[in-house]
Amino acid sequence: MTVQLGSEALQSVPLADHFSCKDAALIDDWHAVGFSKEVEAGKLVPVRLLGRDLVLWRDSAGTVHVWEDLCIHRGARLSKGWIEKDTVVCPYHGWRYDGTAKCVLIPSAPDETPPAKARAFPHKAVERFGLIWATLGNPQHDVPVFPEWDNKEFRVFHAGPYFFNANGFRSVENFIDATHFPFVHAGLNGVQDNPDRIETYEVFDDPGLGLRTSEIVVFQPYGDHRQVPVEAGYIYRCFRPLVAYFSKRVQIKDPASKHKSNPGDRFCTFLTAQPVDEVSCIIRLAVAINFSPELTEQDILRRQDMVFEQDRLIVETQRPERIPIDLRMELHHRTDRLGQAYRRWLGSLGIHYGTI
Ligand code: FES
Ligand SMILES: [Fe+2]
Repeated sequence: MTVQLGSEALQSVPLADHFSCKDAALIDDWHAVGFSKEVEAGKLVPVRLLGRDLVLWRDSAGTVHVWEDLCIHRGARLSKGWIEKDTVVCPYHGWRYDGTAKCVLIPSAPDETPPAKARAFPHKAVERFGLIWATLGNPQHDVPVFPEWDNKEFRVFHAGPYFFNANGFRSVENFIDATHFPFVHAGLNGVQDNPDRIETYEVFDDPGLGLRTSEIVVFQPYGDHRQVPVEAGYIYRCFRPLVAYFSKRVQIKDPASKHKSNPGDRFCTFLTAQPVDEVSCIIRLAVAINFSPELTEQDILRRQDMVFEQDRLIVETQRPERIPIDLRMELHHRTDRLGQAYRRWLGSLGIHYGTI
């Protein structure tokens, strides 16, 4: 198989045995594979994406590189090696690769110029929103945008990584599901003895921007980090199959505290799921909040960690592990409209990997 690398000519990429993703919609997409802060200069960081072993590293100029975690010489893992003077040194026979992926030294023949074929296998990578995004192919679109990231009225934080021993699509579908709050997040985002009735809402398919809902309103006993009851209005978006978002309007319900909230109060979450393989993923979040400056980062993260742990415990139980996109395979209710649209959308994009 060949993979096109940017404007370069087709280059053969040796494939590991376990590689099975052939879906253009996933190959030619951007995937968050780490927080920028996870990849320090001089460090080799192994990651898995769509069943492929990759290595991330940052050179002294600050540029992040994403390569196959494989040495062309004898297939050793480059991530087990080290970085010296902005070259990656393979741990097996010490071949050195520079930032352009070219082998610049074969220690057993130090006076010879390494053959042109002696190269690592790079992929495209960019950094946005404090995340490292990589692709195994050639996306025709840019990385999805976290709308609040550059809005000075919002404070932004990262949360995670959360390791889910669960399918990435099932994990995203959980994130965009407002009917699990009273049960999975009982006492926080819903009331088990008094679950919200979900009014019929709309799902829009915005060309190039994915799915979007009209507002879904729920009552939350401790719906945000202030630990006060709120009315919460969610607008969900699925920018890409593994990148979703909500903007949550929060309004304090208690008449005595109502003056503390404003109609413009929003808590927004941008969720990325790194598809490690078909049945496991890593969730990373960027969250944005434009109220309660007294809340510390710890207050925000404590709640995120708790909520995503509750989600993890339930999503890891779902069977079949791969999400069924044939809508006849599970039972969908009017109140699952977004989940249904999400599955239909995955099908329309021709995604087979991680689905049945
Ligand atoms: S396998 Fe990497 S140098 Fe031999
Ligand atoms: Fe949840």
